[in-house]
Amino acid sequence: MENILIVDDEKHYPMIIGEVLAEEGYHTFTASSGMEALDILDTQLIDLVLSDVKMPGMSGIDLLERIKEIKPDLPVIIMTAFGSVEKAVEAMHKGAYTFILKPFENDALIAHIAKALSMYRIVQENILLKDAMRSRYQFDNIIGKSQPMQELYGVIQKVAPTQATVLVEGESGTGKELVSRAIHYNSLRKDQSLVAVNCSAFAESLLESELFGHEKGAFTGAVNMKKGRFELAHKGTLFLDEIGELPMPLQVKLLRVLQEKTVERVGGTSSIPVDFRLIAATNKTLEDEVRNGNFREDLYYRLNVVKAVMPPLRDRQEDIPLLIDHFIKKYTTGPESGGTIKSIDKEAIQLLCDYEWKGNVRELENVIERSVILSSTGRITASDLPSHMRQTNTNTLRLDGIPEGVGLSETLAAVEKRMIQRAMAMSGNVQTKAAQILGIGKSGLNQKLKKFNLDKELNLKK
Ligand SMILES: Nc1ncnc2c1ncn2[C@@H]1O[C@H](COP(=O)(O)OP(=O)(O)OP(=O)(O)O)[C@@H](O)[C@H]1O
Ligand SMILES: [Mg+2]
Repeated sequence: MENILIVDDEKHYPMIIGEVLAEEGYHTFTASSGMEALDILDTQLIDLVLSDVKMPGMSGIDLLERIKEIKPDLPVIIMTAFGSVEKAVEAMHKGAYTFILKPFENDALIAHIAKALSMYRIVQENILLKDAMRSRYQFDNIIGKSQPMQELYGVIQKVAPTQATVLVEGESGTGKELVSRAIHYNSLRKDQSLVAVNCSAFAESLLESELFGHEKGAFTGAVNMKKGRFELAHKGTLFLDEIGELPMPLQVKLLRVLQEKTVERVGGTSSIPVDFRLIAATNKTLEDEVRNGNFREDLYYRLNVVKAVMPPLRDRQEDIPLLIDHFIKKYTTGPESGGTIKSIDKEAIQLLCDYEWKGNVRELENVIERSVILSSTGRITASDLPSHMRQTNTNTLRLDGIPEGVGLSETLAAVEKRMIQRAMAMSGNVQTKAAQILGIGKSGLNQKLKKFNLDKELNLKK
C-alpha cells in the first residue's frame, strides 16, 4: 500500500481527500503545516506528497523546495486556488510533478496520483537495479541487465585484464565502441593511451599512412615524418573500428604487424618495435566475409582470439526502460539542459519497448534526446515521440505469450478467432460492422463465424 502525505492548513479539505484516497486503496497521512510535513517525511516512508500552496509559515512552494533537496525523486503535487496560476508555474519550475487547481474533480486527482506513483516506482526500481549492476560489473556506463548482456559482461570482464586481442561484433548502434573502450579502461593498460582508427573513414592510401606513418618525402606532400597509429598506441591499446572495411592489401600488412610486432613507416626501411593490445570492431559477421572472400582467413584467426558479440536491442527488450532512464538523465543533467530532470509517461515507455530498433541503442538515444528537447513540460509523453513510432504496426505484435513448439496454423487460427470475437464485441454483434472493422467481406466473416462455432455462441445481428 502506498503512503500519501496531504499537507493543508485547513482541516476540511484533507479529510475529504483522505477519504477519497482511502477508497482507492492508499494510506494517507495529514499535516497542517510545512514543518509538520517535514517531520512526517523524516519518520515515514512517503511515496507522494499532495500539498496546498497557501499556508501560514512555510508555504507549499517552500516545502516543495525542501523536499527536492532531501528526496529529489519524490513526486509532489501542488494544489493551488483558481486564479493563482503563477504559483502553479513556479511550482513546476521548482520540480513539482504537477499541479491541480482547486476545486477539482476527484477523478482528476486520482489519475494524477496514479501516474505520479507509477513513474516513481519505475525510478525507484531503476535506481536499485543500477546499484546492483554497478557493484557487480564495474562497467558503470554500460546499461543492461538482460541475459544476453550478462553473458557479454562475463566475457569482457574476463578478457579485459589480459593482453588478448578482442573482436567485437554487432549490428550498428549496439555499443561496440562503448564496450571496446570499457575493455581498455578495465585493463592493465588503462593509464596508457587508447588510440582509435576508423578503417572506413579513410581512402586506402591515406589509411595506410595513418596506420603506419610515413618518412619525410615518402610521397608528394609528406613534408615531415609522421608517426602512425600503431606507433602511437605503443604500450597502450589500438582500437580498429570497422575492421571489416580494411582493404585487402592492408589486411596483409596488418597481419604482418601482428605477427612480427614491428612496423615500417611508409617510405622507411627500419623496423620499429610496437607493443599494443588490439581491439577490433565490426558490424559485419567476419566469418561470412571470410567465406565470401572479402576478408583474409589468417587475419580473421589472429583477430578472433576472444569474440564479444553485442546483442541487438530487440533481443533485450527488458533493458529498454533502463536505457530510457539513462538517456533522460544524460540529456537533462548536462550543462545546457538547465538541470530539469524530465520524466516519461507509461504509454511512451510502452511504445518505446514495442518498437523494433533497427538502429539499436544509438537510435533509442537519438529518440530520447529529441523528445527531451521537444517536450514542453517536465514530462515526455507519447506525442513527443516520432510519429512513425506511434502507429501500430504489425511488426510490434508481441509473441512472448505464445508457447514454443506450437504450430503456425494452430496459432494463426487462435489469433483469428480472438480478433473476430473482439470485432464482434466492438460492433455489438452486428456482422456488417464487424466485417468492416476486420477489413473483410460479409460472407468471409460468416464462414469464419461458422468455422469457429461463434455463430452458435453469439447473438448475431445482420
Ligand atoms: N549498453 C549501453 N548502455 C548505455 N549506452 C549505450 C549502450 N550501448 C550503446 N550505447 C550508446 O549508444 C551510442 C552508440 O554506441 P556505439 O557507438 O558504441 O555503437 P556501435 O556499435 O559502435 O555503433 P556503430 O556500428 O554505428 O558504430 C553511444 O552513444 C553509446 O554510448
Ligand atoms: Mg562504432
